[in-house]
Amino acid sequence: MGGSIRLGTGANATAMRDQIVAYFEAHQKFVDSDALRILAAQSVPLAISQQVIDEAGPAHPFVTAEMVARIVAVSEASRTSEPARRSLGTSLLSLSMPGPEGPTSASVPEFSVVQLGFSAPPSTDEPLEAYTTLFASRYAALARLLRGRSTLPNLVPVAESNRARGSVSVIAMVRDVRTTVEKHHTIVRVEDDSGSIECFVPRDSPAGRTTFIPDEVVGLQLQVGEDKGRAPRVAGVERPDSSRGRTEHRSARASRVLFLSDLHVGSRSFLTGPWSELTEFLHGRGSAPDVAEQIRYVVVAGDLVDGIGIYPNQERDLALHDVFEQYEELGRRLRELPERLRIIVIPGNHDAVCPAEPQPGLSPDVVALLPPNVTSLSNPSTVALEGVVVSAYHGRSFDDLIPAIPGASYSRPTDVMKRMLQMRHLGPMYGGRTPLAPLARDGLVIDPAPDILVTGHSHTFGVDRSGGTLLLNASTWQSETEYQRMRNIEPVPARAAIVDLSTLGVSTLDFSEGRAVEAE
Ligand SMILES: [Fe+2]
Repeated sequence: MGGSIRLGTGANATAMRDQIVAYFEAHQKFVDSDALRILAAQSVPLAISQQVIDEAGPAHPFVTAEMVARIVAVSEASRTSEPARRSLGTSLLSLSMPGPEGPTSASVPEFSVVQLGFSAPPSTDEPLEAYTTLFASRYAALARLLRGRSTLPNLVPVAESNRARGSVSVIAMVRDVRTTVEKHHTIVRVEDDSGSIECFVPRDSPAGRTTFIPDEVVGLQLQVGEDKGRAPRVAGVERPDSSRGRTEHRSARASRVLFLSDLHVGSRSFLTGPWSELTEFLHGRGSAPDVAEQIRYVVVAGDLVDGIGIYPNQERDLALHDVFEQYEELGRRLRELPERLRIIVIPGNHDAVCPAEPQPGLSPDVVALLPPNVTSLSNPSTVALEGVVVSAYHGRSFDDLIPAIPGASYSRPTDVMKRMLQMRHLGPMYGGRTPLAPLARDGLVIDPAPDILVTGHSHTFGVDRSGGTLLLNASTWQSETEYQRMRNIEPVPARAAIVDLSTLGVSTLDFSEGRAVEAE
């Protein structure tokens, strides 16, 4: 039996209806009241809303009950007709994860799942076709956010752009980027489903100062000259960006959420002492018991356990050599936290799920080892905590984005997260260190733009804000391993970021020296 994750009646239900309306408005659509009623009754209303927007296309500004009912029916039909796919789940469908039961359930606040990154598997076994579908999904989702901007006049398909003359715009995916040998100008090849073109980006122009990330979707304003042999020149670059059309959400009551990441339970370097102090703090037996008392949620952004065989000679760093024993130990550690907390976990690259992203949630036999107040979701996932939209992504794509962005580093992960928000994508690069799962829907697209984006993976710590979104990189509960020393990664462990959902103010506690110390 699982705990309900639907929003109930009252303030939370109103907040969800407001979110649905705001979401459609951000996509230049108006939702009528009957359509809204059907959507609000769904367990994953914004995921259904996204499908409605996809289906409607740009020509239909009004969303009706019929349009929504059709999408709901299709999604229910696919759910019942494909049990094998459902079992891959922890996708949109398997939302009946263990939840609090019996006498404790009344004290656990409600929350809702807004969007799960992991969704239906590809409709084909043919890899090329499956990846084509994935990229088409990415293009459609991000082009929708770029279309209609005044900074992208005379929008044409890519194949028509060099038949035009003067100023035209395209929305396209970046295929490759190179620099000219002598003058260091940039040549960027972009494409949409009509074709591809090479564009010239002068080194000292505003466009030349931006870094193009392979496989991101951009809007380009082009100047096409008379000479058809010359590549169009890029006069301006637009990114989907997160700050447009956003509605900010805050909880009505003082309520807090604790963000953690990279516990690495099972590693010899799991920080037992600082963890014990954290549990004491959460039970109100440490500093700031008034703050601890208001914490109702914990979000853990992946690498729950250390796993096995993740890097060369990892066995030397392990205290527990069986991954199930590691999850049993994780269960014991999480049972040490107050039962009243709703704990939301996503996997990371060390967890025992498929490494390709989006990753599904933990398997049911692993979830069974965890306490009932734990909700296991896919990586990434977006939830609403008392109306505040929180996206959690482990952060594996840092391994691709940091080398690709000049000046980026693991010590400043929030800088990379700002770039993710600009691209509205958590990890676009194909063929790098982050394996991408060829799912039918690109679950790494950031939509809706969250109030809080949390990552881990870098084992560092960061708090920043961008376009109304609070950015957190949530530290680690593992000290430095030999492997990290070799790779020159200096961890910033045992930091706990606590966010007040009524203000989005952050307090940071540093448990690295044992007892909690306020940290900046
Ligand atoms: Fe990690």
